[in-house]
Amino acid sequence: MKALILSGGKGTRLYPITYTSAKQLVPVANRAVLFRVVDAIVESGITDIGIVVGDTAPEIEAVVGDGSEWGAKITYIQQEAPLGLAHAVLISEDYLGDDSFVMFLGDNVLEGGIASLVEQFVQGDWNSQIVLTEVSNPQHFGVAELQNGRVVKLVEKPDIPPSNLALVGIYMFDSHIFEAVKNIKPSWRGELEITDAIQYLVDHGYKVYPYIHEGWWIDTGKPGDLLDCNRLLLETMEANTLGSIDPESCVSGRVVIEKGAEVINSTIRGPAIIGENSRIVNAYIGPFTAIYHDVLIERSEIEHCIIMENCKITDIEARIEDSVIGRHVEITRSPLRPKAYRMTIGDYSQIGML
Ligand code: G1P
Repeated sequence: MKALILSGGKGTRLYPITYTSAKQLVPVANRAVLFRVVDAIVESGITDIGIVVGDTAPEIEAVVGDGSEWGAKITYIQQEAPLGLAHAVLISEDYLGDDSFVMFLGDNVLEGGIASLVEQFVQGDWNSQIVLTEVSNPQHFGVAELQNGRVVKLVEKPDIPPSNLALVGIYMFDSHIFEAVKNIKPSWRGELEITDAIQYLVDHGYKVYPYIHEGWWIDTGKPGDLLDCNRLLLETMEANTLGSIDPESCVSGRVVIEKGAEVINSTIRGPAIIGENSRIVNAYIGPFTAIYHDVLIERSEIEHCIIMENCKITDIEARIEDSVIGRHVEITRSPLRPKAYRMTIGDYSQIGML
């Protein structure tokens, strides 16, 4: 059994963060989404992993490496253009060979991992198994229709959904999927759709079964999804202090203080995580906040945020909430007169002023 992680795509819905960085590398609760995907695959017992990469290949390869950190072997497969999920399977045929595999979208996070899915598929004699979950907005996803416990129909982002069962971005396939991806045509959006490939399997008598996922699942495509995912993951963490908290500070609830982090004369209310070598000085950090490595927060209040590495937030009077802040961002009070907002901001940034 192998695994195929799809980690191409431009991440346009996460601009400007994804102008400079791959969307799969955004940290949620201080661990990149893609790392969490590899964690889940390795936990299920699979260590032979292919990652399909696009424009952000150099960054992904530099950070994820050869897989030895997980005791896994990672092979990178270059996709020249984002031509669809089924296209990613097509170009991975040499790597996958005759093996069955789990395909996992590199921006998806699933509560509880995939070990029981992989085990069920190994024990069954099915050609494919697709992970489904009930959602309130099925028109935004691939949607499946079931009959007698089997998948009979799949539609991509339908106006009138046949059910409320969305396709989570996790699929099990045997090598018959190659016959399917070679025989389908691009969709209206010019992509080879995996839903069409699975429909091909159904139409040609192959056995496609559902796996209904009961816990939470987040496709971290938009800033709000990242914050939701961050919140859900922070809620599952155990408190742990590896850094230092001075006696003037008050830290309550589930709070992780990573190695080298310092909390000075500050209040932190969990669940929250303070990353390696970050400094929280005369500040307030509220629930559902993840501060990544080498950040300085001083005389400011932050709540329900993801703050990425090397940011500096100082002397901000109003509380910063519900925000995703990229790497090396500085937000500070301007000492200059006249009193004014002064900014250097990248394209597609969004700022809520008081
Ligand atoms: C893709 C799939 C869709 C699935 C979704 C899950 O959509 O095409 O069937 O429901 O992932 O995240 P995309 O994110 O490419 O729009």
